[in-house]
Amino acid sequence: MKILHVVGARPNFMKLAPVARALAKHAGVTQKIVHTGQHYDEAMSESFFRDLGIAEPDLNLEVGSASHAAQTARIMERFEPVVERERPDWVVVYGDVNSTVAAALVCAKLGTKLCHVEAGLRSGDRTMPEEINRLVTDRLADLLLTPSRDGDDNLLLEGVEPSRIQFVGNVMVDTLLHALPMAQASGFREQLGLKVDGYSLVTLHRPSNVDVPERLQRICRALGEIAEHMPVVFPMHPRTRSRLADSDRLSLGRVRLLDPTPYHATLDLTAGARVVITDSGGIQEETTALGVPCLTLRDNTERPITVTEGTNRLVLDLSTLRDLALTSRRREKAPPPQGWDGRAGERVALALTNGRLREPAIEKLR
Ligand code: UD1
Repeated sequence: MKILHVVGARPNFMKLAPVARALAKHAGVTQKIVHTGQHYDEAMSESFFRDLGIAEPDLNLEVGSASHAAQTARIMERFEPVVERERPDWVVVYGDVNSTVAAALVCAKLGTKLCHVEAGLRSGDRTMPEEINRLVTDRLADLLLTPSRDGDDNLLLEGVEPSRIQFVGNVMVDTLLHALPMAQASGFREQLGLKVDGYSLVTLHRPSNVDVPERLQRICRALGEIAEHMPVVFPMHPRTRSRLADSDRLSLGRVRLLDPTPYHATLDLTAGARVVITDSGGIQEETTALGVPCLTLRDNTERPITVTEGTNRLVLDLSTLRDLALTSRRREKAPPPQGWDGRAGERVALALTNGRLREPAIEKLR
């Protein structure tokens, strides 16, 4: 059986790692990795492959940055001949980035079987590009592997055939559990002079926060106020850095700005924080898995289980951010959501190699 994995952006790499590792244990499976080149800076891409121990991509489509339509079209144009040449049994796509939907469209048009890892998540907010990517990819996929039960419910409500849906759990948590000892041994947090439970970590990159100058200004002001009371570290996505550079009126006070951090460094910082302030999808899950309070600067989330069963809280009113951050406390870690157990990659591999994993198999793998 031949499997082609398609990845392109930072959060895809963490999801690929445990699936590739699990499939490598299945005799008769050959795998190739196609990197679309959506993310291309060393800090956004190569450093993740190194930290996660993923094999070098077999192919890089080198599409780079562009508008959504241009980037998606470029990936499609360059990926189509790859599928025609390689003739894989399955193409596996991850998450909700432009690379995900572009590869899905190519597969649908060529009649190649498509598996979507992290299927079924919905924010209900079609102003988010990721929501469009999720809806289209799930409409086209043959095998939809969900990270949480709400994913199954969303897909059933949309009329997806039950036989295509399979709950496997959260592959990103596999990566987190595997990497945590290495991340904590990296000494990254200590080198910054930060004490466990003594600082907040910030990550922001969503257009809805950083591309709207008034909103970015209000967030920066609140972060500056928090930094008067506890250290605040802010590894900065290139999009955010360029938006801040565009605006000479924005001040972050004593907030410590860092370049984008590699996976182990980010995990070390997340695991030690008193509170994480973010608009990322994955970090909402990572903080829940680690038992670290998370304040998400969005009006909605496609990961509601991190609010109902985890440590996440949506900050709907920015004027509350300062007080919410300063009163956040780490608590005893609650039991993780179902299937966030470090074995989701194995269940993905079983689903792909068996065609479909029957429900009791999740019990056997516990
Ligand atoms: C993308 C994903 C988003 C994900 C995020 C993780 C889409 C629609 N969005 O957003 O879901 O949460 O990745 O980081 O796919 N840039 C660089 N170097 C790079 C990559 C990007 O400088 O290696 C800059 C470019 O100016 C680019 C901008 O960042 O225009 C945005 O990059 P892009 O890949 O379009 O979207 P992200 O904001 O990274």
